[in-house]
Amino acid sequence: MVKVTFIEADGTRRDIDAKEGEPLMYAAKDAGIAGIIAECGGSAMCATCHCYLASAPNGPLPDIEPAEEDTLEFTAHEPTDRSRLTCQVIVDDRCEGAVFEVATGR
Ligand code: FES
Repeated sequence: MVKVTFIEADGTRRDIDAKEGEPLMYAAKDAGIAGIIAECGGSAMCATCHCYLASAPNGPLPDIEPAEEDTLEFTAHEPTDRSRLTCQVIVDDRCEGAVFEVATGR
């Protein structure tokens, strides 16, 4: 398991365990992270799993693939250079200690 932190819209920090080899979104959904809806089930189509990467002490994380980049152009919350779709982040040891802020419409 890999330790990852999410910061929810109200500022609540949630430390969760994520399974290596699976999309980070699965761990976020299993943990009930507020704001991670994942309407498309992980197909990089809905952007309702959008987060901002705040830190990745063991990173960098894997690069953004074209499908993720395309969807991020149409998110409800403005994308930044820290934006990731958590369904497209496959958990590995580079995610250990990473902190993700749930996109909140900033
Ligand atoms: S779950 Fe739909 S884009 Fe990630």
